[in-house]
Amino acid sequence: MSRSLDLYSEARSLFPGGVNSPVRALVKPYPFYVERAEGAYVYTVDGEELIDMVLAYGPLILGHKHPRVLEKVQDQIFKGWLYGAPAEVEVRLAKKILQYVMKGGMVRFVNSGSEATMLALRLARAFTRRKFIVKFDGCYHGAHDYMLVSAGSAAEHYGVPSSDGVPEEVARLTLVANFNDFDGVERLLRAEGERVSAIIVEPVMGNMGVIPPKPGFLKHLRELSDRYGSLLIFDEVITGFRLGLGGAQEHFNVKADIVVLGKIIGGGFPIGAVVARRDIMENVTPQGRVFNAGTFNAHPLSMSGGLATIEVLEEGETYSVAARAAKTIAKALEEASMETGIQVQVNIVESMLQAFFTANPVVDAATARLSNKILYERFHEEMRRRGVFIAPSQFEAIFTGLPHRGPVLDKIVDAIHGSFKALKGAVG
Ligand SMILES: Cc1ncc(COP(=O)(O)O)c(C=O)c1O
Repeated sequence: MSRSLDLYSEARSLFPGGVNSPVRALVKPYPFYVERAEGAYVYTVDGEELIDMVLAYGPLILGHKHPRVLEKVQDQIFKGWLYGAPAEVEVRLAKKILQYVMKGGMVRFVNSGSEATMLALRLARAFTRRKFIVKFDGCYHGAHDYMLVSAGSAAEHYGVPSSDGVPEEVARLTLVANFNDFDGVERLLRAEGERVSAIIVEPVMGNMGVIPPKPGFLKHLRELSDRYGSLLIFDEVITGFRLGLGGAQEHFNVKADIVVLGKIIGGGFPIGAVVARRDIMENVTPQGRVFNAGTFNAHPLSMSGGLATIEVLEEGETYSVAARAAKTIAKALEEASMETGIQVQVNIVESMLQAFFTANPVVDAATARLSNKILYERFHEEMRRRGVFIAPSQFEAIFTGLPHRGPVLDKIVDAIHGSFKALKGAVG
């Protein structure tokens, strides 16, 4: 018996499905347990060494245990790790974020992306005095009632895009449009626009695999928001500080009213943040009447980890290394597809990409669903057999980061070719 199997057997009686977040249960035949991680690698309790392209589902763009992050977090630990009072490091991190994401705006730090989207939507409702929200099929914005309607990620994988336990009355206030469907969203706004408080979108979908916006789609959402007086919320929990320091707003040259951040800005420690124009943000407690509070808000370890991460990102190298790795991997996938005749669509934006096993372009949730999930899962298994850990679900992203270069990148490319050959052998 492997140690992971022992632990998982115990875990199954302790946690629903044996895990504490559903996607972790998708690693078959049972999840591996991690003993330690460093740089590009995770080391399992069973002695496996895996190149990590999951990067904790996005936060670890610098790889594991980056020395600069370790140093800052260690310094903070020695000064104590939680005060129930403000600390200088939160001021430093907020200033950095605003410099790149919204000059002149304001921030509220919370503990997760879910908390941040929940606050952003409450704020939009209060600010506009309207109740409805428009989201897109397959976009995932966290595990709370407003957004568990047509949600992607593990919700899609497990067939519960709309969760049990969310009252119909709440779900009815969330209207769903199709990503990249210019006319559809316009029709929805024409019908309901006067009642819509916010349009919330992942500027690049990262929870149905990776799906980029068509040229002009985000601008179209900006124009519709302006026309109907709703707020535009960019959920940049994944794309923030990943597509560059200015995130998707800078990459696509479209400004949002509210930007939600998480993942990278905590450097691997729990975090979420709402960033908004000052006139909007001033409505949050204690300045205004939109309630938010949290024992762990602006946790000093998360603030330190995030600050150190952004300081490294400012040096620029990470973005070029990560984008180069993603391009090399995309090319390897396409070549392996040509060599074996296994059809694959590769979607890529900077350091996020995904391979869909389908002949048709993947432009929205419906086309993503048409891809061969079983084949993807086989691909995941074959990659692991060759020492590379990619997301176990078709509806997650493959992430690249600072450690994906040199021999590590060569090994990933070899693993792709080897995996496709094995798939070809299996599917004939
Ligand atoms: C786009 C997006 N928004 C929100 C969330 C929720 O963030 P968290 O898992 O930190 O609650 C996620 C998580 O993957 C996400 O990808």
